[in-house]
Amino acid sequence: MCGIVGCIGKNHGREYIISGLKTLDYRGYDSAGIAFSKNNSIEVYKDAGSVEHLDSLIPEKEDGKVIIGHTRWATHGKPNKTNSHPHFSYDQEFVIVHNGIVENIGELKEFLSKKGIKFVSDTDTEAIASLIAFEYKNEKDVLKAIRKSMEQIHGSYAIGLIHRGEDRLYVMKNASPLIIGLGDGFNLIASDASPMIEFTNKFIELEDKEYGFIDATDFSLFDMHGRAVSKELISKNADLIRHDLNGYEHFMLKEIEEIPSVISRLVNHYASDGEYKFDKELIKKIKGADHIIFLACGTSYHASLVGGRYFESLLGIPTTSYIASEWAFHPMLPGKKPFIIFISQSGETADLIHCLKIVKKSNHDTLIITNTNGSTLDRGCKYSLNVQAGVEVSVASTKAYSAQVALLLLLVGAVKEDPSIVKDIMGSLPIIDFIKKDKKQIIKAVATQIKDHKSLFYIGRGYDYFLSMEASLKLKEISYIHSEAIAGGELKHGPIALIEQGTPVIVFITDKVTAASMRSNIEEVKSRGANVFVISTKELSKNTDTIVIKDYPSYISSIIVSSVAFYLAYFTSLLKGYNVDKPRNLAKSVTVE
Ligand code: G6P
Repeated sequence: MCGIVGCIGKNHGREYIISGLKTLDYRGYDSAGIAFSKNNSIEVYKDAGSVEHLDSLIPEKEDGKVIIGHTRWATHGKPNKTNSHPHFSYDQEFVIVHNGIVENIGELKEFLSKKGIKFVSDTDTEAIASLIAFEYKNEKDVLKAIRKSMEQIHGSYAIGLIHRGEDRLYVMKNASPLIIGLGDGFNLIASDASPMIEFTNKFIELEDKEYGFIDATDFSLFDMHGRAVSKELISKNADLIRHDLNGYEHFMLKEIEEIPSVISRLVNHYASDGEYKFDKELIKKIKGADHIIFLACGTSYHASLVGGRYFESLLGIPTTSYIASEWAFHPMLPGKKPFIIFISQSGETADLIHCLKIVKKSNHDTLIITNTNGSTLDRGCKYSLNVQAGVEVSVASTKAYSAQVALLLLLVGAVKEDPSIVKDIMGSLPIIDFIKKDKKQIIKAVATQIKDHKSLFYIGRGYDYFLSMEASLKLKEISYIHSEAIAGGELKHGPIALIEQGTPVIVFITDKVTAASMRSNIEEVKSRGANVFVISTKELSKNTDTIVIKDYPSYISSIIVSSVAFYLAYFTSLLKGYNVDKPRNLAKSVTVE
């Protein structure tokens, strides 16, 4: 979603902000802006459109001592120049960038309006700036004005704020991430570490309800009692953070091809030397649970379905996977001792954060499986496991999905105390590599055949059905072809009515138990004219199958065959000439409900 970058005392500050905004653009945005402050002047440039467009609006010589930049994903108000950040306060003394959503915006605006304050934009952000400016008039102290404002603002915010004439960059945070990067003679802020990692590996993560400021050489942070808080310096694994195409044309392709290295890093992290390395207390808690509840969205929800099947079939623990946004309206916690697992690549998905707030009203244990240390869900859940995928830039999630599934399986292996699971996961690596080396051409040929269709179907049963769901989502996300995943047995209950001459139907057959039923499904759709593409494993294959993959234990199918689905979505989007990494209307991290 929105992204914040800021700096103070940095040479070539403007370049840092522009490249930082580009680094954050994977989060998705529709407008961008920058404020430059030096001495007593503040210049703001902003508009709807890209960071490149913004850069073209800024005079070449423009620079500042304190600079804040923002990429906006519209929530309150249309994506246009007026609503873009930064926003001035009503008296032009403060300028602000903000990520998040103010929940009591109506109340705040009414309060300020009664004081005669007018608004030029439709945003909640402008009201925050004006509230701080209003409080400053009484307090004559920016930190006190910020604290008083924070007492009145309900909702999520990560904020960078400049006060005219001051060489300070103020920060405040609640339920939206904000990180400070400490440099040598300069300091930085950003929504995540990625724009800063080239310049420092010393980070400070703000906690909720903390505020303060950075100057060029130091930082000060305070709690809601106005007491200074001491903070720990954090360093990050630069390789996992850096956004680098590494010679690839698109992040999506790079990320698909990273899957084997991600999985071996994951195994090394959680099960090195044939021994599981999970927190013993976590394993004990899972063993003691009578029901595992998964909460997730999108691709992560699909991973939860596979994970749920692992818990049920390998451990005999019943599970329920819920779509977070649905569950929140009808919260159910089945079982007497449920254990709740959140899955989120970003750790910032608003639908899930909402669920966490609900879950926290009970006393049940929570685990987050995420790719983002320090994210809201990472900090909010009792236990946290990182999927070790490294930053995922492409909006369509690929390596994070494979890593989520592999991690869930490792977790089950640890509870079961079964080392053969580690061996099976490691066995997937050469097969994924084989898909990359030997199958890309044929997958591309399939993409050529489906790319001009308006609609298609994926079908499968069991693990292959879960895989179909993910394959279908991936394809629709980036190729804009209507795609639906159907459980093989459900075809006859409705969807088969849609099959006509030439309808593409992509079938996964990787499980002995369901293979025969799937072959019958193929006959059903073929006889109605479907153009069938079968992806099967060798022992279950027929001569006519489109893509045949080496054999492996069928329960790891989602880790392996997902690569085929990812390549197919990738090539289809590419052949249609779409922006693979940044599909229309979608954002990497959806921080609004
Ligand atoms: C967005 C992304 C999806 C992702 C979903 C859940 O919609 O576009 O690719 O699967 O959010 O994200 P999360 O970060 O919670 O896994």
